Amino acid sequence: AEVVKHTFKVSNIVVRRLCKNKTITAVNGQYPGPTIEAHEGDSVAIHVINESPYNITIHWHGIFQRMSPWADGPNFITQCPIRPGNSYTYRFNVIGQEGTLWWHAHVSVLRATVYGALIIHPRVGGVGFPFPNPYKEETIILGEWWKADVVGLQNKALASGGAFNISDAFTINGRPGDLYRCSNKHTHKVEVEQGKTYLLRIINAALNSQFFFKVANHRLTVVGADATYTTPFSTDVITIAPGQTIDALLHANAPPANYYMAAIAYASAPVSVSPFDNTTTVATLTYKNSPPSSSSSPPLMPSLPAFNDTPTAHHFYSNLTALRPNSVPLQIDQHMFIAFGLGLTPCSANQPLCQGRALSASMNNISFSFPTAVSMLEAHFRRIRGVYTKDFPNRPLVAYDFSNPSVNNVGSFQLTDKGTKVKRLKFNSTVEMVLQNTAVLAAENHPLHLHGYNFYVVAQGFGNYKKKEAVKKYNLVNPQERNTIAVPVGGWAVIRFRADNPGIWIMHCHLDGHLSLGLAMALEVGNGPTPSTTVPPPPPDYPQC
Ligand code: C2O
Repeated sequence: AEVVKHTFKVSNIVVRRLCKNKTITAVNGQYPGPTIEAHEGDSVAIHVINESPYNITIHWHGIFQRMSPWADGPNFITQCPIRPGNSYTYRFNVIGQEGTLWWHAHVSVLRATVYGALIIHPRVGGVGFPFPNPYKEETIILGEWWKADVVGLQNKALASGGAFNISDAFTINGRPGDLYRCSNKHTHKVEVEQGKTYLLRIINAALNSQFFFKVANHRLTVVGADATYTTPFSTDVITIAPGQTIDALLHANAPPANYYMAAIAYASAPVSVSPFDNTTTVATLTYKNSPPSSSSSPPLMPSLPAFNDTPTAHHFYSNLTALRPNSVPLQIDQHMFIAFGLGLTPCSANQPLCQGRALSASMNNISFSFPTAVSMLEAHFRRIRGVYTKDFPNRPLVAYDFSNPSVNNVGSFQLTDKGTKVKRLKFNSTVEMVLQNTAVLAAENHPLHLHGYNFYVVAQGFGNYKKKEAVKKYNLVNPQERNTIAVPVGGWAVIRFRADNPGIWIMHCHLDGHLSLGLAMALEVGNGPTPSTTVPPPPPDYPQC
């Protein structure tokens, strides 16, 4: 095994998109940032130097961070931020996972532009891919672009208690593509040879949008999700939520020509997204030796689902299974029922532009607030009191019909408490969480991401979770393994995992606008009996507040 080393210089740069120059925060002057490539079994050391004007942390999304919780990255959960002018080296091992992950800033809304791919190749000398070796690999990172400064937009949203603005463009590898103004010279291009097979490593790095992704005239075979192998799943459309990754094989077996690969938002909430034209980001797929495309013969466009096509999204999300039978826990030590969603609270004193009510979000009626003086992990390690409490409830504090927006639930759900509460879990205990989406303000599909673990998605469905019917759907043989689950709109999902990774791990909605509203909670997982199952001391350069 090797040590993969990188230096990440974070700084502000100017890039031009949608006919306008804009200052963004980026790593090593690149947007998207550099790709990290490792093999399963390697160690990784990333020296992050903060030359930007902002506080920075970087999260290695999907990496388990076993015995390295200090390197996980979420601001004030596992570390204080790296202040401007300071640096921190993230050190972790890549063990027990292969496929595509990614990294991103985990502070404020900086991950809008501070992100990149983290690719884990099969172990050197191991068995390799569980499918024939692809001829080439292509990374496809889906993202979003705002004309305005995102930190300014976030400050405005927080001060007014309103929602974060909808983006001005979607992007593939940082580029909006042909269908947007001033963008056709910079469209991302993938060149293929007929008869060959390509592995697409698709990442949704968008702040606030789920996507449908399609390639004109080509079917895709999904072989991996969130750096776990799946049963090969043939599909013409991929649905992918922020935080998730999909590995899919593309067989270049169409007539040699130019094709678009395209992504459009899957928006279950009533936001103003019109399905085609300028809300679609594209890249071109060009067969070698095919005649160049021109304005009179543009690449062939795939026909995309409607932006609110929940059946298509659900079909994709619920039909993936793990490639092999896996060790999903069968006996459960800790049952939790977590209802979550958006609500309203009275304006608070630090919201000067707020009128009447402010948006908030919560899990089991607790709106998560981040500590400000010390990280939760350091508080856990040094037994510092008063940073968080251990009373995160096992069930919602207010019971009601979760899935029915016509029942007036707003009165109860808006009474959310603010707090920094954790659920304490015994080391090695088995956990089942029923994740119940609420439809109080609007029915939305929330992608929930758990740090430090993959979990097994044993079932999902619409409406209120009802145990009797749900257990009939449980897959306890080869459920898909994920680090981010898009809980169906007005529906539920059941996940299971074994709490065998000590530390403090945040679980949150990966729509960034909802994280800052409090759609989060954290787990405190106790130490195991041996040194190799006990949180080690923080590294010497661990950032201080
Ligand atoms: Cu990809 Cu807590 O994040």
